[in-house]
Amino acid sequence: MVDNLEALSQRAAATIQLKASQSIKARDIFRLVLSGGSTPARTYELLAQTSIDWKRTQVFWGDERMVPPDNSQSNFGNASAALLDQIDIPQSNIFRMRGELEPEQAAQDYSQSIQRAFADDPIQFDLVILGLGTDGHTASLFPETAALEVQDRLVDANYVKSQKSWRLTFTFPTLAKSRQLLFLVSGESKARIVARVLRDQDTQLPSGRLLAEAQGEVTWLLDRAAARHLPASFLADWQ
Ligand code: 6PG
Repeated sequence: MVDNLEALSQRAAATIQLKASQSIKARDIFRLVLSGGSTPARTYELLAQTSIDWKRTQVFWGDERMVPPDNSQSNFGNASAALLDQIDIPQSNIFRMRGELEPEQAAQDYSQSIQRAFADDPIQFDLVILGLGTDGHTASLFPETAALEVQDRLVDANYVKSQKSWRLTFTFPTLAKSRQLLFLVSGESKARIVARVLRDQDTQLPSGRLLAEAQGEVTWLLDRAAARHLPASFLADWQ
């Protein structure tokens, strides 16, 4: 647990930089998956100031809205402004979800992009940045949506009734087999859902289910406000 969003972002950037160097040392490549939402924005700005070897880093997204890249809602557009436009990264290392396509076509298109990017490597992302919604969603795996049941594809088109919109999202199998999941959660508004996921281990929530199914390392970076309902003993164990 850290004091505030700035400290959380600093810790997140350092965590990602360490994973990048470990991945590149081990496999000569770092496959990073970005999240949407507002929480990671400062982390992205700080990543632009790190010494990550972007020529050996491939950047993906774990979910996207069905909008073109220049739309203010675009996860790609927001990450580009904060990070990608600030670093020297080959365009061929950037794998954008094409939100301007029809949902199903975009899902198939991105699944094929991932397969091309991994070539003969097993499909296993090195680090996936994730947020947590107050309803327990992560990526665009929202409660009571069809994508929660999809086991046989990398990426799914998911109609989200609560958002009245289609989303593209990694499926549970794709997320669960990643080497590391890095949840970034900040603010008082997330305190109750954090407690349901971490203290109560509520696997009825998509984020709680992912935590239970994850095969790799799961790291939670919480600020004090988001961790408010976690018992002190819990935090001590998790330091
Ligand atoms: C998105 C994200 C989504 C986000 C959470 C938390 O595209 O919106 O992928 O899963 O991470 O909704 O969003 P905040 O960081 O804005 O609270």
